Amino acid sequence: MMTMTESDNEIHDSQDEIHTLEPDVILDVRGLKTSFYTYEGVVKALDGVSVQLKKGQTLAFVGETGCGKSVTAKSIMRLVDSPGVIEAGEVVFRDRTLDKEEVISDLLKLSEDEMRHIRGNRIAIVFQDPATYPNPVFRVGDQIAEVISLHQNLAEEALVMKIDRLEETLAENPQAPNAEEIKEKISEYKSQLDDPPPPTDDDKKKVAKKKAVEMLKMVRMPSPEEIANQYPHELSGGMRQRALIAMSLSCNPQILICDEATTALDVTVQAQVLNLLNELKADFDSSIIIITHDLGVVAETCTHVAVMYAGVVVEYASTDELFSDPVHPYTSGLLRAIPKLTEKVDRLLQIKGMVPNLITPPTGCRFHPRCEFATSICSEQRPPREEVKPGHLVECFHPQGSVKGRR
Ligand SMILES: Nc1ncnc2c1ncn2[C@@H]1O[C@H](COP(=O)(O)OP(=O)(O)OP(=O)(O)O)[C@@H](O)[C@H]1O
Ligand code: SF4
Ligand SMILES: [Mg+2]
Repeated sequence: MMTMTESDNEIHDSQDEIHTLEPDVILDVRGLKTSFYTYEGVVKALDGVSVQLKKGQTLAFVGETGCGKSVTAKSIMRLVDSPGVIEAGEVVFRDRTLDKEEVISDLLKLSEDEMRHIRGNRIAIVFQDPATYPNPVFRVGDQIAEVISLHQNLAEEALVMKIDRLEETLAENPQAPNAEEIKEKISEYKSQLDDPPPPTDDDKKKVAKKKAVEMLKMVRMPSPEEIANQYPHELSGGMRQRALIAMSLSCNPQILICDEATTALDVTVQAQVLNLLNELKADFDSSIIIITHDLGVVAETCTHVAVMYAGVVVEYASTDELFSDPVHPYTSGLLRAIPKLTEKVDRLLQIKGMVPNLITPPTGCRFHPRCEFATSICSEQRPPREEVKPGHLVECFHPQGSVKGRR
């Protein structure tokens, strides 16, 4: 539905290695390790994060503050700020190019130019802090139009716009002295539709503005023409969110990552925004990663959940499975801590014990000091990842729930 960029075929020339992916997997994060070299010591923020995103999924990352949700998202995008360093792992991505060819590559091995292309066209990240973003000094419509003209070549749309304009002129005044000339021009433009010439900057701008209004309409913005002319501060928090989503989807990404800010929107607004994203997911053929504190929102809007604890994805399952049969002791604790919708976000996830210091993290299973099921092996060795049921993965020596007692 949207035009892909001209540079679609330019990437991936720096990859020598052959990567493989299971069918339907669009992103496969394998053993990702990211650390921050601070004056206090090395913060081992991600300790081998492994998680897969499949086509069409809405995958939630959940876990207490500081567990590594944002660092995982930033590592996938290679946007980790200094003093952070991605030290190990692979981020294998299945890219769909202009001619529908699929290219599989490890994002961590791409050149910075190639990665910029991925960020601009394939994987978009929305930081859910609508107070500072979109840019407060530009009109909403102009910002979306800017993204559209950067990422789409718009040649066909510009030509169609010119044809429409000429046809309107002709319809208004069919006896005009230059009617024949206009008809000839229309046929000439129509003959170029299969291989349209590059648009002028002016035409491109006009088309992008029109498309920006269409995008605002798609995200169910009331009076999109008016909103396009407003500045971000003139919109409510929920509307700014929609504008941000319109902007992110304008580059037609295959994956959209939404990272909730700690000063989150209220839960109802967040659920509305996520419901909207799910509705748009099919239209844009995108998969979504949601980072949130709110398990109620997850239950309502996500198909799969990755539970993170101290830099590790400790459990992964479909949302129904995870909520009905959690097997990692930390997940069970989280689910017991589900608050009422009216409670404040910073009280959401409270589990007995302290969040570990990641400069000197606990040995073995990082959850062992807080775990009621811990045995000696838990403090000695890292638990291996096990598929306890099809599609239900856990890292724990003593899984609970319906699989309890298998060991
Ligand atoms: N720039 C940095 N310098 C040092 N440590 C950092 C930096 N950024 C993140 N960390 C550490 O990495 C760990 C993971 O942080 P991250 O921001 O991913 O947590 P989070 O799960 O997103 O938390 P929240 O829910 O509060 O957003 C934390 O221990 C954090 O202190
Ligand atoms: S591995 Fe041991 S300490 Fe870790 S969650 Fe499982 S039972 Fe608890
Ligand atoms: Mg975060």
